Amino acid sequence: MKKPVIAIDGFSSTGKSSISKIIAEKLGIVHLDTGALYRGITWFALQNCLNEDGTINIEQLFSSFSLIELEFKNDTGELVLFMNHINISKEIRSNEVSNNVSLIAKQKEVRDFLLQSQRNLAEKGGIIMDGRDIGTVVLPNADFKFFLTASIDERTKRRYQELLGLGIEADENQVKENLIERDRIDSEREIAPLKKADDAIVIDNTMLTKKETIESILSHLKK
Ligand code: DC
Repeated sequence: MKKPVIAIDGFSSTGKSSISKIIAEKLGIVHLDTGALYRGITWFALQNCLNEDGTINIEQLFSSFSLIELEFKNDTGELVLFMNHINISKEIRSNEVSNNVSLIAKQKEVRDFLLQSQRNLAEKGGIIMDGRDIGTVVLPNADFKFFLTASIDERTKRRYQELLGLGIEADENQVKENLIERDRIDSEREIAPLKKADDAIVIDNTMLTKKETIESILSHLKK
């Protein structure tokens, strides 16, 4: 029997990735955090495509796609992104990347560049992918679609703790501003905006623990 394809979309810091990772383990399928792809491209741009004033040169980035080699290595169910053979998992969580990623993610050229590799990964089934446009654009025929949301204060608390856990210094107010701004750009962009798919199940997890959110998703998968 073909294993399911599951799409998890939603706002920043609703726990999409950590929840998807655990569900993948429980179901014996793989997990891809698609935000890491956009973060990876942003990190590349910050390393290689800067204007003199320190801003990202978008045109230079577009003409550098051929220099970017993306690989996904399966680390016990987790698809870890390697860019040009380097594991950039830690680098892509920096504030600098977080502050620039929405500007990169709204570019049609960037989204087109990343679309096919995401679809290829889902072809054989047995994957849970989390992001912003998985249920709407990347995998419109997914077997199950969920849309996660939570209050901004709760999400700020979670992101702040996550950054501290990674050893990244942060200011709670700045974290909140960054989340609000990112959600605004992600929701208002023209190409593949952050939006609930018509057939997605909404889960507001403001008052739910991670475990309760996972149980809620699993209960829908059993139906
Ligand atoms: O999930 P995250 O916070 O790591 O995502 C980083 C950024 O990438 C986020 O601002 C929106 C963008 N993104 C996107 O546009 N489409 C996706 N499928 C996943 C992420």
